[in-house]
Amino acid sequence: MSRIQGILSQLYNENYIPKYDMIYLLENLDEGSREQLFDCARKIRSKYYENKVFMRGLIEFSNICSRNCIYCGIRAANENVDRYRLSKDEILSCCKEGYELGYRTFVLQSGEDRWYTASKVADLVSSIKELFPDVAVTLSLGERSYEEYKLWYEAGADRYLLRHETASRNLYEKLHPDGDFDNRRQCLYNLREIGYQVGAGFMVGLPGQSHYDLVEDLYFLKELKPHMIGIGPFIPANSTPLAKEKAGRVEDVLVMLALTRLMIPESLLPATTAMGTLDPRGREKALMAGANVVMPNLSPIATKSKYQLYDNKICTGDESAHCRMCIEKRINSTGMKVDMGRGDSLIA
Ligand code: 5AD
Ligand code: FES
Repeated sequence: MSRIQGILSQLYNENYIPKYDMIYLLENLDEGSREQLFDCARKIRSKYYENKVFMRGLIEFSNICSRNCIYCGIRAANENVDRYRLSKDEILSCCKEGYELGYRTFVLQSGEDRWYTASKVADLVSSIKELFPDVAVTLSLGERSYEEYKLWYEAGADRYLLRHETASRNLYEKLHPDGDFDNRRQCLYNLREIGYQVGAGFMVGLPGQSHYDLVEDLYFLKELKPHMIGIGPFIPANSTPLAKEKAGRVEDVLVMLALTRLMIPESLLPATTAMGTLDPRGREKALMAGANVVMPNLSPIATKSKYQLYDNKICTGDESAHCRMCIEKRINSTGMKVDMGRGDSLIA
């Protein structure tokens, strides 16, 4: 058995390999061993979640952001963004449309927009829960205090997504001029302590990112054990400091997805919109590499095109109902099946 074969079988059987083996794997994967890796990831995914793909409806309720992450299209300093905020009624009507399309979980995402005070968000969450008692509510509005997170949890929020972006301190600090690496991680631990199902995640192919940095992501996640892990390629965004950089590669994201599936087998892994943006079959490929969630957009058609974290984002001209059907066809083409339930993680 070659060293690669040995490493893959250890990863498959034990869901763990030492860091030096992980580095070896990343440096030495060829086409054949990559397919084997995806095959292992699919088997593990099926063992825990069968062939189900969980659907979450994404509502991007504000593109106003006070931060300046240098990769992000809606960073505060970008003046070429048409800024918007959805009102409570507009958000509730997106939920209603989503509910009628069969969604039983909504993800409310925005920039870091303090206009939505802790009490406004709590009120929104409790209204959604009152109107749709059988849905899971996920929030994704960035870094807030322990008390704010707790208030929203008590108002009924079930889950919180906050990608760690990169587990390498050095790279994190370069990308986030106004960020605090330790605080971001602390937020993730706070969310988990409060009782949320937590989503972390990272980008692949960031300028300056090495295999060593990506290995840090995997071992950080192994320790944090989040319920969900969002992994996508970096894609340059117009009018940002990284506008002229090269995008990440779909193949590299697939490898990281498969490795994540093997290291944290019970996690929920979305096939991200960024994957679909770089490759027309990017989301299907992600599903074939171990992913099992998709998050179609439920934002109003008038604002879909304004939430551009990166260039050429797909589906921005499509009705929510259209995406619902489109994505189902794509899922079926991989041999997997749509699951419209709440899609809770198996991680305790
Ligand atoms: N390319 C890819 N992903 C991006 N995100 C933000 N900007 C970009 C970009 N230019 C991701 C971040 C963030 C998530 C909502 O979108 O990881 O957490
Ligand atoms: Fe939106 Fe295919 S998922 S058009």
